[in-house]
Amino acid sequence: MTAHAVDIRDNTEPIDQNDLEYNALLSNLQGNILKGHGRDHTANIFVQFHPEQLDKAKDWIHDFAEKVTTAKVQLKENERFKRNRISGGIFKGLYVTAKGYDYFGTLDEKRPADASFRGGMENAELKDPKKEEWEPTFRELEIHIMILLGDDDKTKLSVEAAKIIEELRPLTLPTPPPNSDPPFYSPHIRIEYGNTIRNANGDGLEHFGYVDGVSQPLFFKDEFEKFKETATPSTGANLAWNPFAPLRLVLVDDPTTEVKHAFGSYFVFRKLEQDVRAFKKNEQDIATALDLENEDRELAGALVVGRFEDGTPVTLTNTDGLIGSGEANNFNYDNDRAGLRCPFHAHIRKSNPRGTGGAESLEDEKKHIMARRGIPFGLREVTPLIDSQPEQFPSGGGVGLLFQSFQANLKDQFEFIQQAWVNNPKFPFSNPAGNSGIDPIIGQGGTAADRDYNWPTKYGEPGEPTEASFAQFVKMKGGEYFFAPSIEGLKAL
Ligand code: HEM
Repeated sequence: MTAHAVDIRDNTEPIDQNDLEYNALLSNLQGNILKGHGRDHTANIFVQFHPEQLDKAKDWIHDFAEKVTTAKVQLKENERFKRNRISGGIFKGLYVTAKGYDYFGTLDEKRPADASFRGGMENAELKDPKKEEWEPTFRELEIHIMILLGDDDKTKLSVEAAKIIEELRPLTLPTPPPNSDPPFYSPHIRIEYGNTIRNANGDGLEHFGYVDGVSQPLFFKDEFEKFKETATPSTGANLAWNPFAPLRLVLVDDPTTEVKHAFGSYFVFRKLEQDVRAFKKNEQDIATALDLENEDRELAGALVVGRFEDGTPVTLTNTDGLIGSGEANNFNYDNDRAGLRCPFHAHIRKSNPRGTGGAESLEDEKKHIMARRGIPFGLREVTPLIDSQPEQFPSGGGVGLLFQSFQANLKDQFEFIQQAWVNNPKFPFSNPAGNSGIDPIIGQGGTAADRDYNWPTKYGEPGEPTEASFAQFVKMKGGEYFFAPSIEGLKAL
């Protein structure tokens, strides 16, 4: 094979964003796929077009394609921000569902082929609540596209969202009779807002209070170098965890266009509601069952998540202060094969066993990883990390995570993690006890016994584990699979 025959996505090293070889790829690729857009506030606008407006809907998409924030532009904005602290403009992305491709009448061979994508999330075997129980947006709408907007300025974001909704409204309704007033409202446009919450350190949190978004596949040289610079103190030159991933992990050919190096990515959206007060209460119960006192009570939650609230991996150490250094993600479970520091059931161990799953090699396990791009929804005051009482947190609905991820293959990545790992009480297979239960945070289905967990009675020490249950405090409220087409792919719709 000549060098030219090698697929550009099979890079064996992190790519240099200024390398001209990747110019066409990055200019034609939507932003947010290879690197998070980083804006603090987002709007996800879900749209069902009206059959009478097909031509106008296509024209609108073709115009919008010119405004989408490409990977190239996003990276340039990142550089400018690092140099001069000048924020980029409003981030814009556009994703299409299988029903969207139906609506646009795209030829079968020109549509993204992934079978899960074509079936839609409602038909995926994820043990989710039935569609009838989903929120109206996901139950009632035949979603064709989703527009993602992001900005650090909430007002600017709302103004842009309102402008776009104004443009889209007539495209979602029948053509009005001549001389009639345009309607003010369309039931076929819905919106979900995301709001970043941060701890005193400035790190992004999810609503249970834990730093999120620490562990990500890294595609670019600069982020990988930064990771390496800060990641080696405890392990010397060798990385305990190598977060590098080739572009193939998330990029597939965009079949809608013939243009070379036009790639897209499959995108998962799930609205996950979190009952924070009940979660915190159960955390306290675990702390009590383990006889933990004062600040040590924080260990209970760390044994659920796999990280302390500040992001410190529970397997690495129980002293804090690692977050912000690459060290927070430079670890594996080789020193913890018996699950005495990080229990087998912990969320981050269930969703990334880092080579200790027991069924596949580390290399094969890494093929299931996704690029996670979620953001919390709903507002709350950030409560103190230590000594906070469960009553201080909101109970029931209203807050949660807009889980979002990019991958090249839904079945082998998002669905695999959810089915074969998270929802599987026997995983990891390396667990000598054979059964670790389902993921306490996002495990779906399962029996009561699948939520009875073994907790290390003394952190890091062998001995009879303490048994205690942890209930389900995350509820799936709806979602869908999308494809993030290339810019040329959007223009070809
Ligand atoms: C409300 C729901 C969720 C909460 C509260 C949550 C919370 C967290 C937290 C606190 C972390 C640690 C930060 C990090 O390592 O980046 C994490 C990591 C992770 N989560 Fe979630 N998560 C949720 C949903 C999901 C879902 C639906 C999936 C996939 C099916 C998922 C997969 C992962 C993965 C793969 C990691 C990184 C593990 C690693 O590489 O070590 N999470 N999550």
